[in-house]
Amino acid sequence: MKVGIVGKGGVGKTTTSALIARVLADRGKRVVAVDTDSNPNLGMSLGLSFDEIEAIPQLPRALIVGAKGDLTAEDVIDEYGRTTPFGVTLISAIKVNEAGAGCTCGGHASVRSFLGDVLEEQADVTLVDMEAGLEHLSRSGGTLAYADILVVIMEPSRKSIITAARTIALAEELGIPRTVGVGNKARLPDDAEFFEKVCAEYGVPLAGVIPYDTAVVDADRAGGSLDSGSGDAVRRAVEGVVDFLDRTVVTAAS
Ligand SMILES: Nc1ncnc2c1ncn2[C@@H]1O[C@H](COP(=O)(O)OP(=O)(O)OP(=O)(O)O)[C@@H](O)[C@H]1O
Ligand SMILES: [Mg+2]
Repeated sequence: MKVGIVGKGGVGKTTTSALIARVLADRGKRVVAVDTDSNPNLGMSLGLSFDEIEAIPQLPRALIVGAKGDLTAEDVIDEYGRTTPFGVTLISAIKVNEAGAGCTCGGHASVRSFLGDVLEEQADVTLVDMEAGLEHLSRSGGTLAYADILVVIMEPSRKSIITAARTIALAEELGIPRTVGVGNKARLPDDAEFFEKVCAEYGVPLAGVIPYDTAVVDADRAGGSLDSGSGDAVRRAVEGVVDFLDRTVVTAAS
């Protein structure tokens, strides 16, 4: 399964990517998480220290991945993947290391090519944490063109749900089989109802709603991952989202 995590700025893409990756790893899946943000933060949410994150080698730009390319996807994981505390393998793809060095399209092309190759040995699930906005659906032929499913993270705001609706239209053009929304940071009593109502209005299938939880905020401030034991409601909600994704990808494939 190849999953792209997308959405408007600050809605919780990186946090949710880490939580989904961890649930999958706890279920015995081999998970490769790819950070495609030019300002990468996924490593921290997966439990790495700042120094460990800074030491991760960057995926080269404009890499052609595949049996006839520069490296196979398996080689990419061997050379550029780093294991994180919960067993998820992290690849850092787009970090900007030098000011004024030009656009990151070459990095996006590498990720696109990596997703297009077949991974049999090292991963059951490849999960890509995307930077905010919609440009990734346009640049380099669509970074996530080979994803099986896009998950648009939303917060309880109409703008973030409209972003999901726009994502669905562009993803269909790219040929991505399925796009679903996940409501995050549900805090007010009627937030779940808000997600259901407004998602129905814009035709966004809702895969689940994750509550707002101060444990997430505390983990973020401490610079680490969400501890097990805290954030139980969040964990249950993320388990539900993972079940929904499993069902959806199986249905789309059959
Ligand atoms: N369920 C939640 N409950 C409370 N706070 C949350 C929740 N999910 C995310 N947050 C907080 O929201 C903020 C943004 O989260 P995160 O960095 O995951 O968003 P993002 O969509 O990846 O942002 P960006 O667009 O910059 O990549 C962080 O401070 C995070 O702790
Ligand atoms: Mg992020």
